Amino acid sequence: MCGIVGAVARENVVPTLIDGIRRLEYRGYDSAGLAVINGSLQRLVSTARVADLAAQADATRTMGTTGISHTRWATHGAPTSANAHPHISHDEIAVVHNGIIENFEPLRERLEQRGYRFVTQTDTEVIAHLIHANYRGDLLEAVKKAVAEFRGAYAIAAITTREPDRMVGARAGSPLLVGVAEHDHYLASDASALSSVTKRVVYLEEGDIADVTREAYTVYDASGARVSRPVVTVKTSGDAVELGPYRHFMQKEIFEQPRAIADTLESVGGIGPALFGESAAEALANVDAVHVLACGTSYYSGMVARLWLEAVAGLPAQAEIASEYRYRESVPDPDALVVVVSQSGETADTLAALKHAKTLGHRHTLAICNVATSSMVRQTELTFLTRAGVEIGVASTKAFTTQLVALFLLTLTLAKLRGRLSADVEERWLAGLRHLPAAIQAVLALEPAIIAWAEQFTKKQDALFLGRGLHYPIALEGALKLKEISYIHGEAYPAGELKHGPLALVDANMPVVAIAPNDALLEKLKSNLQEVRARGGELYVVADADSHIQSSESIHVLRLPEHAGLLSPIVHTIPLQLLAYHTAVMRGTDVDKPRNLAKSVTVE
Ligand code: M6R
Repeated sequence: MCGIVGAVARENVVPTLIDGIRRLEYRGYDSAGLAVINGSLQRLVSTARVADLAAQADATRTMGTTGISHTRWATHGAPTSANAHPHISHDEIAVVHNGIIENFEPLRERLEQRGYRFVTQTDTEVIAHLIHANYRGDLLEAVKKAVAEFRGAYAIAAITTREPDRMVGARAGSPLLVGVAEHDHYLASDASALSSVTKRVVYLEEGDIADVTREAYTVYDASGARVSRPVVTVKTSGDAVELGPYRHFMQKEIFEQPRAIADTLESVGGIGPALFGESAAEALANVDAVHVLACGTSYYSGMVARLWLEAVAGLPAQAEIASEYRYRESVPDPDALVVVVSQSGETADTLAALKHAKTLGHRHTLAICNVATSSMVRQTELTFLTRAGVEIGVASTKAFTTQLVALFLLTLTLAKLRGRLSADVEERWLAGLRHLPAAIQAVLALEPAIIAWAEQFTKKQDALFLGRGLHYPIALEGALKLKEISYIHGEAYPAGELKHGPLALVDANMPVVAIAPNDALLEKLKSNLQEVRARGGELYVVADADSHIQSSESIHVLRLPEHAGLLSPIVHTIPLQLLAYHTAVMRGTDVDKPRNLAKSVTVE
């Protein structure tokens, strides 16, 4: 999604500005741009890739010691050159912006009445003009006055030709940090963007404004008071992530799952609250319910966890889409543990839901997250870090299966605290978890059979995914994977619902994917599959070795080598990821950067 980099340095900052946004590229964007001060403002933009921006900078010998750069994921206005950031007011002020200014229309009208001329459809242009309108020789004061008028979520970086060695950043609802080097200072929306120049960063808090020069930086809080925020040394390696022998990052990340799960389990010696942080013993002791809040694939992991928590820990649990929770009137239970699940830890809807839960009086919050330095991790009481490693593909794969591992550990921990986990059952589940890498490896070896399925799917417009119990969320995940990267419409149903409507869709053109592990619901599922066969539907069944479903002309059965019991959703996800991946490759879509989507959704 949108990314910000800013620099005030002794040397030409253009290479740093370009390198920084290149490191944020994988999050998805549809235009990129930069502006530097070199006497006047020089602005370059591209609706192609950051590489094109770099080529333009070389060709035009653009340089300067103060500058800002940006990758934009369009919200207001199409992804055109005009709408790309930075936006400029009166050739003096340049601004880059992440987030959305909700009240930009009245602000724009007011500025137009004062004679400001708008040349873009963006909300960001309002910021540039508003800073200009407030500028009286002090950029910091102008930014302070401007942001006081904004409603919405934003992170901004602004520069002006009138004060060429200064840069001002502000944040509310969207991350921004100051990068600290010996003689140079930076702004960025993510620490990884600065990894070639510094690992020392200062995370700005809600409402903070940072005044940054080459020699120093000062942070002011929302009340205007000067504040001291800690300098943190981040661990991100920042090394360019290599594709290795793989064709796409998504394929690489699917095949990395055995290692990602092994890494996530590496420090897990036994089950207990310590897995979730120092204060977890006290926080988890009196939890009387669990409320999982998340979006997209992360929400589906919460749906699986809900079933685990009720069955194993005996705790009432619910999973809810974060963007819905934040706006509904709910009945808060202060002793319910709020769990936010997120790969990026920067998803705006999930962060807002977390904030909302705290406002409602929820005492205990836990983040299950893949990014140690993320806003979500910093805003929760407890943390469990999945160790999936950097996930580049927009379609979440290894983040999902490691989230499930983390949520199963939480389930076992709460079960243990409630006296529902005997020592031998604990040992058995730990062994089951530790066996997952090998079990997944065995499923990955079935790739050739899934490629044969994908050849059939490439010709289709729609597909149905069926699952029951723990595997209904996996059916949802399979349908989401298929639609987001292959652009084939996929829809998931709990198999028992088929006869209540979706059966009307089934004919010879509708492939039906069924997840059929050998569990308590298998016989019920088999009856549902008969309903599909009776209507001429083509079945693609992901079964266990002992599910006893025979292949025939229109029933294609993939037998997974082992039965994983309650952990089966983790293993049954893998064939669905591979199916979506190979179907998308055959259809020639941009697998790692599907159209209209971004890796990290930092706007509402
Ligand atoms: O970073 P998060 O896990 O919070 O992201 C949530 C969703 O945006 C994400 O899972 C999305 O649905 C993926 N593209 C799915 O593959």
